[in-house]
Amino acid sequence: MTAERAAGRGGDGLPGPAFSAQPAIEARGLVKTFGPLRAVDGVDLALEAGRIYGLLGPNGSGKTTLIRLLMGLARPTAGEAYLLGRRVPSREMLARVGYMTQADGIYAELSVWENLRFFAGLYGSFERSRLVDALQVVELADWRDTPAIQLSGGMRRRLSLACALVHRPPIVVLDEPTVGIDPALRVQFWRHFRSLAAAGATLLVTSHVMDEADRCDELLFIRAGRVIARGSGMELRRRAGTADLEEAFLRFAGEEAPA
Ligand SMILES: Nc1ncnc2c1ncn2[C@@H]1O[C@H](COP(=O)(O)OP(=O)(O)OP(=O)(O)O)[C@@H](O)[C@H]1O
Ligand SMILES: [Mg+2]
Repeated sequence: MTAERAAGRGGDGLPGPAFSAQPAIEARGLVKTFGPLRAVDGVDLALEAGRIYGLLGPNGSGKTTLIRLLMGLARPTAGEAYLLGRRVPSREMLARVGYMTQADGIYAELSVWENLRFFAGLYGSFERSRLVDALQVVELADWRDTPAIQLSGGMRRRLSLACALVHRPPIVVLDEPTVGIDPALRVQFWRHFRSLAAAGATLLVTSHVMDEADRCDELLFIRAGRVIARGSGMELRRRAGTADLEEAFLRFAGEEAPA
């Protein structure tokens, strides 16, 4: 994997020719329309294993829709998506993906532990130690018997994250995982995300928080359903000629006067 990471990436952000292993997440010409709206408007991507990718873009730019297409949860109008080389939708791939949705997908009437057990079971993973570990990561061990409905908003987000990670999937897709999470825990989450990537997982994370964006190996700027730029935070700043990532986004979006 080190060699793969070291393999040069072209200036266009596409994997360089030296990168031959199959991408963990791949999109080919993905399009999704809702009536006249092109929510995802021709996305080509190849994301490698062992890295954290950040999906950044304004509200309504198509991040969640793109994620749903990549996971095989929505049918593309055109194009294809692949996870670990398998075309989605793929029942087999479901167990290999951890998806934390933007809206909490947990069951209010079930306890913290029951929610975890439910999701672990859904993914065919029944090892108790995994449930215990997932609880520890989100610091909910003391709440394990509490019904989810009694949790605070931030705690519910934490439980959602634990449910997405409990089966230790190689592909982890997190749609705004740290919204409502306090700063200390947020730092801890990112430490955990990094350790998952170091162990070989591929993470795709959406966020509106720029200091989080800087924790990603690579960023994908999304606007109006298109990837308008891709690269590390540093690289994108350099290319945009600004020290500010938000400003860099605006430059790429052409909403600012050209430099
Ligand atoms: N099921 C749907 N039917 C019709 N339009 C939809 C549907 N889902 C999404 N859209 C539209 O597609 C566009 C992209 O939405 P999407 O949820 O992917 O954006 P997003 O980038 O995730 O935004 P946010 O940052 O607010 O989460 C929006 O204009 C949205 O209104
Ligand atoms: Mg969204």
